[in-house]
Amino acid sequence: MSVLTYDTLIIGAGPGGYVAAIRLGQLGIKTLVVDKDKALGGVCLNWGCIPSKSLIQMAKTYEKTLTGTEKMGIKVSGATFDWAKTQEWKNGIVDSLTSGIAQLLKGNGVDHRFGTATLTSSTTADFVEKSGEKLTIQFKNCIIATGSSPVQIPGFTFDKKFVVDSTDLLELKEVPKSLVLIGGGVIGLELGTVYAKLGTKLTVVEMMDQVLPGTSKDVAQLVERKLKRNKADIFVSAKAKSWKQVGKEAELTFEVGGKDQIVAGEMIAVAVGRRPNSKGFGGENIGIKLTDRGFIEVNDKLQTSVPNIYAIGDVVGQPMLAHKASKEGEIAAENIAGHKYSTKDIQVIPGVIFCDPEVGIAGLTEDEAKKQGKKIKVGKFPYGALGRAKSTGDIEGFARIVADAETERVLGVEIVGTNASDMISEAALAIEMGATLDDIQLTVHPHPTLGEIMMETAKAAKGEAVHILNPKS
Ligand code: NAI
Repeated sequence: MSVLTYDTLIIGAGPGGYVAAIRLGQLGIKTLVVDKDKALGGVCLNWGCIPSKSLIQMAKTYEKTLTGTEKMGIKVSGATFDWAKTQEWKNGIVDSLTSGIAQLLKGNGVDHRFGTATLTSSTTADFVEKSGEKLTIQFKNCIIATGSSPVQIPGFTFDKKFVVDSTDLLELKEVPKSLVLIGGGVIGLELGTVYAKLGTKLTVVEMMDQVLPGTSKDVAQLVERKLKRNKADIFVSAKAKSWKQVGKEAELTFEVGGKDQIVAGEMIAVAVGRRPNSKGFGGENIGIKLTDRGFIEVNDKLQTSVPNIYAIGDVVGQPMLAHKASKEGEIAAENIAGHKYSTKDIQVIPGVIFCDPEVGIAGLTEDEAKKQGKKIKVGKFPYGALGRAKSTGDIEGFARIVADAETERVLGVEIVGTNASDMISEAALAIEMGATLDDIQLTVHPHPTLGEIMMETAKAAKGEAVHILNPKS
């Protein structure tokens, strides 16, 4: 068996693994990144973030063309779509990005191979190349970046026909006439929004008492309201129990308020969370410890219980987000390269949800801050009071800022509305830098932009917003 020797082996080429590989390449460390799928970029790039955002944009454009132009004086006599072409366009975006990663790896002197690696000791792995060829890889350091997989509910085995997961939803040959979604979380609502906009009769069955648990109730309500305008039925505090095939449809039985209800659809999509891929790469062969919840245990340098083996991304814990994985990839790489002070010292990992309207969250929500017993100041400012929002016609939404009552240090921001996903970065920067309400409100924000909402919301928290009337204290 041939033997390959590297300083660092990375298992998994998603946004954690490939970013770690690039950083190691920059730092002059001889690195090999391997992936069991014949694709660079992992779930995010191939079956997650990027393809879903492409379909979300397509559905948004389609809906805007149909309904959003008349007020501006543009008459459109109708619109249709060619789904095969949409899929081709989406796949082209994915292809161009994956080939970009291949070039970046090459340019940084990093090798990559497709196949399955299994650790056999703390410095060796067996590797079965996609072609079937078997190799041994010797390394000094290793980074596990194996990601996560969709959670399955007992009785709802994915069969790619009647019970599907998010990957299947991205690759449907046709837009379904009806779709039943179990789980009104991030994946469910992002992809549910796509199909609801394209004419699918959508039913959402969510176990908690609101969709998008973790966001504030009024944020979730705005998203729910828009979905209902797209004729979706939404059931909360509802638990999926069983399903059966009835003719060409799947019929779901779910329980709400102690009573069973039935809903049928062309298919049932299950998006109830993801579980870490913390088994299957030989970690058990060398005693890599897992937490009670099945994540790989790591310290603040991202080292596992075997110190020359690091782990990053979804496999080490929540939040399961691409940008968190990438950041951890950089930290692990810098530790391998001997940087003394590269540790996981992150104040905030912002989250973005690409439903309609978009949601951006950084730090604590108002409820979370109260639950932690913090004394807070809160400011809220509506999109409708922004000149820019008026001129684009996207007036739904608001921003809310939560700050420490005494120091006025920003603790959290939620934005729901157009381009919230872009604007939340300012909030993340503010929290990371320990900024106060004054730091934000005294910063001149250009007019007319949606970005003014951060400045106005910070002013609102002080009772000094300019373009709304402030409540009298
Ligand atoms: P999630 O945790 O966001 O949502 C799952 C939902 O399913 C929850 O609302 C939960 O209450 C519900 N649920 C659980 N069991 C249920 C049952 N038996 N019946 C009905 N409802 C049930 O998980 P999701 O949507 O699967 O996403 C997985 C991960 O992927 C998340 O960590 C998310 O952050 C990440 N992701 C991030 C995106 C982004 O950043 N925009 C996009 C898509 C996914």
